[in-house]
Amino acid sequence: MQVEVQVKEILESGVELTDQALERLLPSGDTVPSSIHRAMRHSTFAGGKRLRPVLAMEAARMIHNRGKGGGELPAGVADLGAAIEMLHTYSLIHDDLPALDNDDLRRGKPTCHVVYGEAIAILAGDALQTLAFQTLARLASPAPATVEIIKLVSDAIGTVDGMIGGQVLDIEGEGSQPTAESVDAIHRAKTGALIRVSVVSGGVYGGANADDVARLTEFGRKGGLAFQIIDDILDVTQNSEQLGKTAGKDLASVKATWPAVFGLEESRRQADQLIAEAFAALEPYGAAADGLKAVARYLVERTH
Ligand code: IPE
Ligand code: IPE
Ligand code: MG
Ligand code: MG
Ligand code: MG
Repeated sequence: MQVEVQVKEILESGVELTDQALERLLPSGDTVPSSIHRAMRHSTFAGGKRLRPVLAMEAARMIHNRGKGGGELPAGVADLGAAIEMLHTYSLIHDDLPALDNDDLRRGKPTCHVVYGEAIAILAGDALQTLAFQTLARLASPAPATVEIIKLVSDAIGTVDGMIGGQVLDIEGEGSQPTAESVDAIHRAKTGALIRVSVVSGGVYGGANADDVARLTEFGRKGGLAFQIIDDILDVTQNSEQLGKTAGKDLASVKATWPAVFGLEESRRQADQLIAEAFAALEPYGAAADGLKAVARYLVERTH
């Protein structure tokens, strides 16, 4: 019960801080050319869970307050979370395009291309990526930490073991029987890498040393994979209204998913196992890791 209360508070305040930062950082809907700014805002403020910013902020809190439990967030870390959320939102706008997953529902709203047309949706995704790096370059962290964060984030969303590479594998894997190896490679790259870097970059923002980075990388890697396994499970077990996106889409598109290889029950078991393993990496932080652990547990216990 206490853990539930804690995670609810962390998520609610994380959403609020992220939304405030995004509101400040995104050009207003009246700024010329207004169509693209409205499109960027449509997808950004459609009601995402903001899990990546929350992970970044909780990792920053843990490292910043090492040795203590709880503690304040380092000043300005919400902008890091907002930049990561822009990158995530860009990936969703492009993921939903007719040429990729061809989805018309996202975060409970019609997708960007349905409302603004394909050309503006493509450009809105591009623009969110550009704005993310503009934001990262202006972070309040010391310059060496800022450069490190930009390196880590750009690597995580690139073509080699990063988000775009994973999207390529996902699209090219459609229609063929996935194996444990192929689905592992897809999930670690298309989703795992951005989740992992959310945790690691948050830690770097909070002053992480090399040992911290290694531990956060291990934690983020396991948590990120578990997150996508659950995304696959929810696609099968929930309805579109619960998810705010089209349910049953993976089967219809013959996607490489964890349940397609391992079945639902074994997939769920493996996700739980991954979270238990992720926790082990945070052992040295004691109570200071409680917030981050609570969020990781939520990654696999969520229903949407
Ligand atoms: C959905 O991510 C896309 C994947 C990478 C599986 P989330 O489940 O975090 O989506 P939002 O941000 O809450 O809409
Ligand atoms: C999306 O994976 C991954 C990225 C956006 C990079 P999915 O295609 O499984 O995400 P949903 O289910 O549409 O949210
Ligand atoms: Mg996809
Ligand atoms: Mg999709
Ligand atoms: Mg999915």
